[in-house]
Amino acid sequence: MTLNTEKTVGEIAAEYPAAARVFEKHHIDYCCGGKHPVVEACRVAGVRAEDVMTEVETAGQTALAQQAPDWNAAPLSEVVQHILDKHHAWLREELPLIGQLLKRMLELHGVRFLPLQRVFTHLRNELESHMRKEEKFLFPSILRMEQAVAAGGRIPKSPFGSVRHPILMMEQDHDVVSRDLDEIRDITYGYDLPEDACMSFRALYRELQALEADLHTHMHLENNIVFPRTARLEREDCVLPGEERC
Ligand SMILES: [Fe+2]
Ligand SMILES: [Fe+2]
Repeated sequence: MTLNTEKTVGEIAAEYPAAARVFEKHHIDYCCGGKHPVVEACRVAGVRAEDVMTEVETAGQTALAQQAPDWNAAPLSEVVQHILDKHHAWLREELPLIGQLLKRMLELHGVRFLPLQRVFTHLRNELESHMRKEEKFLFPSILRMEQAVAAGGRIPKSPFGSVRHPILMMEQDHDVVSRDLDEIRDITYGYDLPEDACMSFRALYRELQALEADLHTHMHLENNIVFPRTARLEREDCVLPGEERC
């Protein structure tokens, strides 16, 4: 694969679905840090960009990768529905489950779990409020925009002006989520379990790791695919023939 040094990590992750797994492996932030050029992100991660891109190419050739959906090519309505069904629905089950496991750990092992509970509670509140905002305002607006363009019409006026405003707010929320995930990783020493960890302790770290992995995929789909494509729809709607750019 020819490495285009102009491309960002997010663009590569959107164009090559197999890239996400490779970026995860090398601890390259492709969801909230997706706007950084690949070369720079690789330098920060301490890996050679050329090697990473070769890995991305190899990963994309496996049978499993070939069958993976190309969300960048799917209609926005499908991507949004997938996010709702797969990621929002899962979070609504997972967050209470982790809350219960943390409560149990506090009962069993006391105050040493308080820092983890503090960060997780902040993350949970942030995510629950964030999902409500996406579901009530941003996602319906995106669907209306796409439908209008598909019907050959103009994008309807929105109460919040440009769609870039709510997108920026959602990206800022994602940054908060990302910082909480990093803090949880630090507190747990990278989910390093003591040898004598009980079943609840093991379940807690397993579910927290699953939460981190799922949120990376979820925020990648929004930050690198849904949000840029939505902003592009609005830009293209603003430059119809014979009209001034709005
Ligand atoms: Fe979401
Ligand atoms: Fe989001």
